[in-house]
Amino acid sequence: MNTNIVWVKMDNDWIEGELTDENLSNNNFIIKINGVEYEYSNYEKHNSIDNLKKNNLVDIPHLNEPSILEAIHLRYKDDIIYTYTGKILISLNPFKNLDLFTDDMISKYKLNSAILEPHVYQIADTSYKNLLKYNKNQTIMVSGESGAGKTYSTRCIIKYLTNLSKNKSSIENMVVQSNPILEAFGNAKTLRNDNSSRFGKFIKIQIKNYSIIGCNIETYLLEKIRLVQQENDERNFHIFYQLLNSDLKTKYYLKSFEHYNYLNNRYISCRDVDDNMDFNNLLNAFSVMGFDEIIVDKILGIVASVLHLGNLKIDEDGNIIMSDEFTYICKLLDINESMLTDAISFRLMKTNNEVIKIKLNRDDTINSR
Ligand SMILES: Nc1ncnc2c1ncn2[C@@H]1O[C@H](COP(=O)(O)OP(=O)(O)OP(=O)(O)O)[C@@H](O)[C@H]1O
Ligand SMILES: [Mg+2]
Repeated sequence: MNTNIVWVKMDNDWIEGELTDENLSNNNFIIKINGVEYEYSNYEKHNSIDNLKKNNLVDIPHLNEPSILEAIHLRYKDDIIYTYTGKILISLNPFKNLDLFTDDMISKYKLNSAILEPHVYQIADTSYKNLLKYNKNQTIMVSGESGAGKTYSTRCIIKYLTNLSKNKSSIENMVVQSNPILEAFGNAKTLRNDNSSRFGKFIKIQIKNYSIIGCNIETYLLEKIRLVQQENDERNFHIFYQLLNSDLKTKYYLKSFEHYNYLNNRYISCRDVDDNMDFNNLLNAFSVMGFDEIIVDKILGIVASVLHLGNLKIDEDGNIIMSDEFTYICKLLDINESMLTDAISFRLMKTNNEVIKIKLNRDDTINSR
């Protein structure tokens, strides 16, 4: 191998060049790229392929940006999506099934995680062991751009931890089953990810005597604006498509997709999302989580009401024009007509002991809706 190969930056890209022996008086270097000589003030050192194929980037002799990128790229080409950098696990989305998350794999990592290849199971395993060893709370932070695989990895971590739990109870199943519910109401197709989480999650899992005894999931920053408005080719939250695809839709006075303004008047299918299967999973998850039929019915009624609300017509003066939708909303939310009108077309102002009702104009009525 030519040991004079170095990395230089050209047009914001790292490319390989050959360092020549020529010494310039201005301390610059002459570097040959595809037979053409260029003058550079600096360069980065190159590593041999063997030296790059390390499980942990810190073991690469010349650790610099182009070598990190090349190392990760070389591993990715061999379907190795995990690489450590110190104690941090870098994970790339393979965009295909690599059989990395089977029950067999979980068993292997449970047996002796430390000697195996980098894996998100290793992170989960280490945090579990550190919890027992130091008796201190452990945190796993999952971060990355949209579509990187945060939700997927989090699911894998939870699957691994529930698998480690010794005295299995209904809790493990509930921890896993909370997911279809959160995703139905909080995930949507975006231009980058068919199942994009439009909210953040902080999951606390409590472990005692080697077993999961509780779980608390806090959600934050839910993208509420998506309810009423989506980019072209993006979707509203999955739940609307799940409900409209199901036999239950007539129960909530719903028609076909074209009917609903809050769905851009059409159905947009997803490659990575199966609305029918997900709806069945959702109903099952509701049941596992202890939501009874009456509550589930109310929840779906509220979901349907949102679609009906989007179709309410409002006149120039901000009055709601009576329609079937208006009646459906009242029935589904179990309220009378004046309550709905008051909620949408009026603002209530409290002064001393008096409540004054102020009529909204058209724009404010639309906002208030
Ligand atoms: N390790 C993996 N193996 C197979 N598929 C994966 C893997 N990681 C992610 N995916 C797939 O890639 C897509 C995007 O992943 P995911 O939804 O987890 O991204 P995200 O980081 O949560 O994005 P967002 O910020 O938009 O919520 C999903 O369809 C997911 O199933
Ligand atoms: Mg996500």
